[in-house]
Amino acid sequence: MPKIAIVDKMHQDGINLLKKNPKFECEIIEDLSKKNLISKLPDFDGITLRRGKIDSEILQNCKKLKVISRHGVGYDNVDTNFLKKNNITLLVTGTTTSTSPAEHIMFMILNISKGKDLYDRSVRNGKFGAIMHMKHQTFELFSKKILIIGFGRIGRKLIKKCLGFEMEVYVYDPFVDKKIIESFGGKKVSNLDDGLKVTDILSLTVPLNKETNNMINMKKMKMMKKTSIIINISRGGVVNEKDLNEALEKEIIYGAGLDVFEKEPPSDENPLLKNKKVLLSPHAATFTKECVSDMAIQTAQNIIDFFDDKLSDSMIVKL
Ligand SMILES: NC(=O)c1ccc[n+]([C@@H]2O[C@H](COP(=O)([O-])OP(=O)(O)OC[C@H]3O[C@@H](n4cnc5c(N)ncnc54)[C@H](O)[C@@H]3O)[C@@H](O)[C@H]2O)c1
Repeated sequence: MPKIAIVDKMHQDGINLLKKNPKFECEIIEDLSKKNLISKLPDFDGITLRRGKIDSEILQNCKKLKVISRHGVGYDNVDTNFLKKNNITLLVTGTTTSTSPAEHIMFMILNISKGKDLYDRSVRNGKFGAIMHMKHQTFELFSKKILIIGFGRIGRKLIKKCLGFEMEVYVYDPFVDKKIIESFGGKKVSNLDDGLKVTDILSLTVPLNKETNNMINMKKMKMMKKTSIIINISRGGVVNEKDLNEALEKEIIYGAGLDVFEKEPPSDENPLLKNKKVLLSPHAATFTKECVSDMAIQTAQNIIDFFDDKLSDSMIVKL
């Protein structure tokens, strides 16, 4: 009987799916320290992984391991080279993790473009009338240009929402054909810098890898309009945090929304925590009732389908 380690507790709906299945023996592992993972994981045939880092030092003792089912679609917390060399399958949760992040991007864009909590504060602070004489800081999304970097599952959900707001959508993704982008109503940008120069809003939905690390740095931000905003819900490190803070302070760009950080949680010294021009959320783009349940169910279902040999190709990461 395959033994499955549920590394980091997930929504009960997913846990139940595995625990109530008589074909598996399951154990929840909540201590995510390397020491604990090294000692516990060699016992298991499969792992579901939410938070926690699984590196080669941990994996080298996992001689029975056949599959890791990631709770989510990013997999920068797993040593993929080791998995490839040792023929261990890596699974992700496909489109279950795209609606909420796309909505979260819209939440950030709308929030920043409508002045964050400016109006709410003005009513509460007795400035109901005064606000109308203030310099207007808010702006419409209608006819604004958005550049979506990374046109995968989330990018394709996002474009529909942007078109609903009658925005002009540009897409930079060297791996997606122009015809596909056009079929969604977007315009393909072949050169990133050309896209950065014209866009009002930049949204990043790419995986973190060698090419995307530090993709948006000071040099790139200087190409952008002073009125532009950057939204990053993908991974910390894709946008250089030090440069972003400086670009906001020096008014090189107007605003930013970040759901992800180079170090999570960010340290108290991170200047972005005190920067009022950035809207922050705690890696929470998937934290809706629907998404946390769907993700846990899909994570568990992927394990079941793997051992039943019924997996859909869209869940398998091509290593
Ligand atoms: N904040 C959150 O809670 C949250 C939730 C879901 C996903 N994410 C992150 O968002 C990323 C995207 O998710 P997805 O489901 O859309 O992934 P996906 O794999 O479906 O799409 C990623 C897209 O990025 C493109 N891409 C890769 N390298 C690129 C590059 N150098 N330049 C431009 N495009 C490039 C790929 O071609 C692909 O189309 C994930 O990798 C994950 O790290 C974060």
